[in-house]
Amino acid sequence: MSQLPRVVILATGGTIAGASANPASSARYQAATVPVTTLLAAVPALQSVARVEAEQVAQVDSKDMVFSLWSTLAARVQYWSVQPDVAGIVITHGTDTLEETAMFLQLTQACPVPVVLTAAMRPSTSLSADGPLNLLDAVRVAAHPDACGKGVLVVLNQQIHAARDVVKAHTSAVDAFVSVPCGPLGFVQDELVRIARAPVRSGMAPLPVPQHWPDVEIIASYAQPGRIVVDALVGAGVRGLVIAAAGNGSVHETLVAALRDAVAAGVAVVRSSRTGAGHVAIPPVVDPVCGTFVSAADLNPYKARVLLLLALAQDPGLASDPERLQGLFASS
Ligand code: SIN
Repeated sequence: MSQLPRVVILATGGTIAGASANPASSARYQAATVPVTTLLAAVPALQSVARVEAEQVAQVDSKDMVFSLWSTLAARVQYWSVQPDVAGIVITHGTDTLEETAMFLQLTQACPVPVVLTAAMRPSTSLSADGPLNLLDAVRVAAHPDACGKGVLVVLNQQIHAARDVVKAHTSAVDAFVSVPCGPLGFVQDELVRIARAPVRSGMAPLPVPQHWPDVEIIASYAQPGRIVVDALVGAGVRGLVIAAAGNGSVHETLVAALRDAVAAGVAVVRSSRTGAGHVAIPPVVDPVCGTFVSAADLNPYKARVLLLLALAQDPGLASDPERLQGLFASS
């Protein structure tokens, strides 16, 4: 009989590793407390899917994610993905910032084997915990040949998402994760793993994991904003700003003035949209004066920030070359 595929689980914490004294509560619990060995023991069915081994890389609530943990995670993914008999890697993560970590890994990892993030909306002690099935499904996807060459994937609630597209869109529902604009890549139902399409724009060469991370922040455009935040950030030496702009990337005139000064001071400025879906026009349809600011295409502000961080870390000169930076956002 042929051996089961070998799948490595890298555990980082989150609600999937959360615990509560009250199993009837799905909202009051402590995230990132249960060790990965306990999570695996709760899913005996894993033994018939893969030879699973696990590494506790961290134990954090993902709201507290830091660049050093991203770097460690990237190093562990790189290490395991070239071990001769590893078929795939699963990363357990908190849901709150999963979309940022998934984007970081998508942009930095070559993924010679499938890399699949999973999580849970309910703690492991909940009456109806979603973590065990999500973990089993993630291992099924990581071990499946059709998952190869699809970039970094995210598996929750029986759906398979592309890292670039997936966002958390609900505070508490088990179907909190959606993919914009085209929906998930596929689904898992018991042994059936069906990937119906390839991710959009997954052909970009991996960017290096930074040794030094530039300061890149997110600001928003809304009714009567002040310029105080932009001016303070530029004064503090920020290298890049992502704007959660209104509608189709429109920015309040007060902010436009402050951001033009920021560009003149050598800061990269990228317009994303706060709407949650859609493409930010190049140049802006309503306010052509914003054309000096790069469009994030269809990346939300958090994903756009990840790309800007990595791009500026690799090439600080991009801050004063909006055309090249625009090319990167258009092709990422
Ligand atoms: C976290 O993001 O670590 C806590 C929340 C969650 O996983 O749902």
